[in-house]
Amino acid sequence: MKRTHVNADMSHQNGLAYKLELFVNSLKENGVLSTLRKISQRVSYRVKGIDFSTQNIYDLTRTGEYQEHGTALVSTSVDFLSQLLNDLEDTIGAKLNRELFVDYGSGKGAAIIHAKELGFKRAIGVEFAKELHEIAQRNIQKLNLKDVTSIYADATTYMLPSDISVIYFFNPFDEVVMKKVVENILAQKESFEGDVYVIYGNASCDVLNSYFTFLNHITYPSSATVDFFKV
Ligand SMILES: C[S@@+](CC[C@H](N)C(=O)[O-])C[C@H]1O[C@@H](n2cnc3c(N)ncnc32)[C@H](O)[C@@H]1O
Repeated sequence: MKRTHVNADMSHQNGLAYKLELFVNSLKENGVLSTLRKISQRVSYRVKGIDFSTQNIYDLTRTGEYQEHGTALVSTSVDFLSQLLNDLEDTIGAKLNRELFVDYGSGKGAAIIHAKELGFKRAIGVEFAKELHEIAQRNIQKLNLKDVTSIYADATTYMLPSDISVIYFFNPFDEVVMKKVVENILAQKESFEGDVYVIYGNASCDVLNSYFTFLNHITYPSSATVDFFKV
């Protein structure tokens, strides 16, 4: 299990060398067509003024008690989220109910925006850094997306709507915050209308294993990992 890099400096991810490395890896792992598709989507976002760039959080305005427990903003790509959802469907052997997707620690809104693009009726993100939440709101507005919402709040204070179907964590915080969030989710379990699945990308703590039903673990060629659970 990887260590949680709370408050880490991730700014190198915006540099040319890192982007070149991603390009070469993508060519190796996904081939030319998929790599070109990714580049064209990035260009289209750039043209529309969408900002999903990596950002450190230690100089941002963070709400709540757990300001020193969060990781830097690294956005989920649409290809990665699509892969995760497909792999979850393969794991459960059924199509997912794409009613409501909630992202804890949603940054600039990449995962909630992609969730909507990938067929969820609604997507909600909870983000404790004010500046990131405001960029998420602008991204949603520029793409003119309905039923995609960024909420400015600490994850431990958020209560899930009863129609929740998929919960997403992309290594957002350490085990202190994760434990409180997971206890809140379990306390609401009786109110959930259907099955609820959890996608934990790049897991850095094993809190979820003690509370939810573990379904599967996958390590991808990029070295990214995912753990799937059922609430
Ligand atoms: C690795 S990024 C993931 C971004 C987004 N989920 C995505 O996939 O594009 C982690 C995010 O969690 C946020 N975060 C950290 N601790 C938080 C907390 N206690 N409550 C809400 N958001 C938090 C950080 O500000 C950061 O934007």
